[in-house]
Amino acid sequence: MTTRRLVLSRSAAIVGAASTGLLLPQIVRAQSNRIRVGFMLPYTGTYAALGVAIENGVRMAISEKGGKLGGREIEWFKVDDESEPAKGVENANRLVQRDKVDVLIGTVHSGVQMGIQKVARESGVLSIIPNAGVHAATRALCAPNVFRTSFTNSQPTLALGKPMFDKGIKRAVWITHKYAAGDEAFEGFRDSFTKAGGTVVKELGLPFPQVEFQALLTEIASIKPDAVACFFAGGAAAKFMRDYAAAGLKDRIPLWGSGFLTEGVLDAAGPAAEGVMTTLHYSDSLDTPRNRQFRTAYATNFKMQPDVYSVQGYDAGQLLVQGVAAVKGDIAAKQALYKAMESAVIDSPRGKWSMSKAHNPVQDMYLRVVEKKENKVLGIAAKALADSGAGCKMA
Ligand code: BEZ
Repeated sequence: MTTRRLVLSRSAAIVGAASTGLLLPQIVRAQSNRIRVGFMLPYTGTYAALGVAIENGVRMAISEKGGKLGGREIEWFKVDDESEPAKGVENANRLVQRDKVDVLIGTVHSGVQMGIQKVARESGVLSIIPNAGVHAATRALCAPNVFRTSFTNSQPTLALGKPMFDKGIKRAVWITHKYAAGDEAFEGFRDSFTKAGGTVVKELGLPFPQVEFQALLTEIASIKPDAVACFFAGGAAAKFMRDYAAAGLKDRIPLWGSGFLTEGVLDAAGPAAEGVMTTLHYSDSLDTPRNRQFRTAYATNFKMQPDVYSVQGYDAGQLLVQGVAAVKGDIAAKQALYKAMESAVIDSPRGKWSMSKAHNPVQDMYLRVVEKKENKVLGIAAKALADSGAGCKMA
């Protein structure tokens, strides 16, 4: 066959394949010119509602800006990570290797995040963390292509110890799900509470995602601390507050926590949540035009109330919109893209925030109390709090 005939017959084959829908995935991608965005989030298990809230927030931020990124249409992909650390690498590779996403948005659970972090560092794919607070992601294992729009696990609890001590609490018990999120939240609590003058008299824990709290509550009753501080989130948080009240502890030993305790669960927890005090980088009742507009739009769109997870997803969407707009849709222009994302100031419902050098939000922490099924803000517990970024070579 002559060269010309070969070329012609190949072109004919491509046209034929196109008309029968058999084009290679790369060719389809080049033609469709879409940006491929993958969600790796929990859609089942104790953190399922958190995954939904994050996805809603991302989609809302992008749709408010016209539904495109840098003028390009979006193709969406989704993987349910089940909050299962053992499947973290495999699930991240489904999006990165199989679906060839341009950006991976995930996840909630710190253990699963370590799998994403490995894949992100090895593949160089742009990765936005919309919740998981594991320290390593923006400390020793930080990377130019990884950005977080949420918090590090010790950020909320670094703001917790002083207000507790100031309320006259001198002896506290700590209780948590035993994995990176709870252990690192404890670091923040221990450091801030002991620095203020308090003593942690006992550390209690149970494996994630177990929710059999009875034996631990009996132990708390026998210790009789001035207060309990904790880290629980999602369905487990609602059950913990209900069990705490049912065990007769609510009126005897005040319950405090990292603010995830009362996020997205106030209906499920009912009266057991009333009066619980927490610290977090968001509060439902923040009385700003930005927060009011966000809450109204979210409730209208999704027929449910937003929470901190919706806000973190919304800010992930805002960050992506700003970054891709700065490179006019050319997501392959990585240096310029990362520079734009690093210098972004996010006009968030939580208040404006910027990125630390290690790519983690520098943000205010609010002191809150649950009142009439709302996380009511009492004040700022820590202003412009930055994580240390210890061990991050970019910082
Ligand atoms: C975490 O695993 O990092 C996490 C999960 C839920 C709420 C906050 C942190």
